[in-house]
Amino acid sequence: MKVFHTVEEVRKYVNQKRKNDKTIALVPTMGYLHEGHESLVKRAAKENDIVVASVFVNPIQFGPNEDFESYPRDFERDCKVLEKAGAAAVFNPTAEEMYGENFTTYVNTTGVTENLCGKSRPVHFKGVCTVVLKLFNIVTPDRAYFGQKDAQQLSVIRRMVRDLNVPVEIVGCPIIREKDGLAKSSRNTYLSEEERKAALVLSQAVKLGQEMVADGEKDTMKIVSKMKELIEKEPLAKIDYVEAVDLDDVENVLSISDGKKALFAEAVYIGKTRLIDNFITE
Ligand code: PAJ
Repeated sequence: MKVFHTVEEVRKYVNQKRKNDKTIALVPTMGYLHEGHESLVKRAAKENDIVVASVFVNPIQFGPNEDFESYPRDFERDCKVLEKAGAAAVFNPTAEEMYGENFTTYVNTTGVTENLCGKSRPVHFKGVCTVVLKLFNIVTPDRAYFGQKDAQQLSVIRRMVRDLNVPVEIVGCPIIREKDGLAKSSRNTYLSEEERKAALVLSQAVKLGQEMVADGEKDTMKIVSKMKELIEKEPLAKIDYVEAVDLDDVENVLSISDGKKALFAEAVYIGKTRLIDNFITE
C-alpha cells in the first residue's frame, strides 16, 4: 500500500491510475480505525479498482472545547488495517498541507446542517464539508464511501455534492456494531468499564424505536419519548438530543409517512464522552 503525505503525490498517483482507466474510490476517515471503517474500505474495494483512504484528524471540524487534541491516533496500526481491507493507497496529510497559510475558503451548507449535531456542534459541518470537498478535489474519486453511523453527515454530504455538482457518487454503508449492540466508534476508547456498560442505552433505545416502528407506530413523538425514557433510566447518560427528522432535509417530522424515510437520531453523553446512534425507517 502506498502512503502519501502531500497533495502533489496523491494527485500524481490517481492521475496515473486514471490514464489506465481504473475506477477510483475514496474512503475519508480520521483514523484509529475499527471494523466500521474497515467495512467501508472492503465494500469500496469490491466495487472499484483502486481504493484511496484518507487518515486526517481535521482540526476545523472540532469546536474549541471538543476533543481534537485527545482524539485517538495510531497511524501505523491504521496502515495495517487499511492494507488488509484492500486499500491501495492512504493519504495522510498534515494540517499545514491541508490548510496552509492564508486559508480562507469554507463550504457552508445550510438547512441540513442546522438540526441535530449542527445545533450542538455549530462549526462541525462547515469543517466536514470543507475537508471532504478538498479531498474530492484532490483524489477525484468516482465513488466515495460514508457510514450511516454519521447519518446527518451523510445527508449533508449528499446535499453538498448535489448542490455543487461534484462529479462523485456517494455510497452510504450500514452501521457496524459490537456484539452487544454498541455502534463502533473511535470515541468508544474514551469509555471506562462502567461507562462502556452504560453506553448500551444508545443501541437499546434504537432497538426500542425500531420495534415500535415495526409494530406500526407512526407518531414520531411517541417513539422519541419512549426512547428518551429508556436513556434517562441510565444515571451516567445525559441526552444531547433524540429526534425524528426527514432523511433528506433533516427537518423534524411528526409522523412516519409512506415513501419518505425518517431518521431517528440520538446523541448522548456517557460521562464526558458524546456518542451518537440512529436508525432509518424503511
Ligand atoms: P470518522 O469518524 O473517522 O469516520 C469515517 C467514516 O467511517 C465515516 O463515513 C463514518 O460514518 C464511518 N463509520 C464510523 N463508524 C462506523 C460504524 N460503526 N459503522 C459504519 N461506518 C462507520 O466521519 C469522519 O471520520 C469525518 O467527519 C470525515 C468524514 C473523515 C471528515 O473529516
